Amino acid sequence: MESQIKNHYNSDHLTANIKTALIKAGKNLSTLEPKDLYRIDQLHTGGANSSIALLKNINFSPDTPDTNDTQVLDAGCGIGGSSRLIAQQFGCKVTGLDLADKFINAANFLTTCTKQETQVSFKQGSILDLPFEKNTFDLVLCQHVLMNIKDKSRAVKEFFRVLKPGGKLVLHEITKGENQPVIFPVPWAASSAISFLEPWDILAATLEKQGFKMSYFSDKTHGACSWWEKVKAASDKKSTGVNVLGPGLIFGSNATLFGKNMHTNFKNNSICLVEAILKKSYNA
Ligand SMILES: C[S@@+](CC[C@H](N)C(=O)[O-])C[C@H]1O[C@@H](n2cnc3c(N)ncnc32)[C@H](O)[C@@H]1O
Repeated sequence: MESQIKNHYNSDHLTANIKTALIKAGKNLSTLEPKDLYRIDQLHTGGANSSIALLKNINFSPDTPDTNDTQVLDAGCGIGGSSRLIAQQFGCKVTGLDLADKFINAANFLTTCTKQETQVSFKQGSILDLPFEKNTFDLVLCQHVLMNIKDKSRAVKEFFRVLKPGGKLVLHEITKGENQPVIFPVPWAASSAISFLEPWDILAATLEKQGFKMSYFSDKTHGACSWWEKVKAASDKKSTGVNVLGPGLIFGSNATLFGKNMHTNFKNNSICLVEAILKKSYNA
């Protein structure tokens, strides 16, 4: 199963293609800022603005006055967009982990370009078997990843294990809506074979059973529908080929269909978008 998911995201020459597209777009690779990459490295609904708004809901360092000591895990980090953004905006140390090795190569390359290597690092691996000691992180971010995870209770158990007591899990996830079926392809799956959407109440029950306490929840489905409508309109107008700074660079030729299908799926209430912040108790 994991190899199918890896194949869905991995593409040949990804890092070289990104490099070519950045140069073609007139970017100087030695003076890149995280924001120069937002058009290609934010692989979730709402882009960078949604991550910034969500993360502002968090008191980043409940116990430590210095956020530089705050350790964040970006679980399923893609090409490291949120990892670089969090490090820059909130000053903490970030580890990004992803199944797709070509995404990790691209994440390392881009992080060298933004000169954030001392603050941000990456590891290839699975959230089902996190390669970290227990009680390592103050915060775990999981953004548009659980749709690919069949065994959600195992992922949730791993998040709980690697969080320090008092640590927070931040979810920004797509869940199953009331009306099925989902129209494919979508960014996380070309077909239903690797898509494991669950209604929010089932996922919430799994999180609570593990011992997480929810401190924040917001249903963002309405805004998501409008956001994807704009993406669809933009991709109707512009080319999204592999040499252009846009989703086609990361997702290939199917990217043009994503905006259309995501908009339809949200509009039909086949999928929903949720944000949640959950806490591991100090006594855990
Ligand atoms: C839609 S992308 C989102 C990437 C990133 N979180 C973002 O928002 O920019 C989903 C990511 O989850 C990763 N992923 C899927 N299953 C995973 C697993 N079991 N362990 C780690 N990463 C996984 C994929 O490789 C992909 O990079």
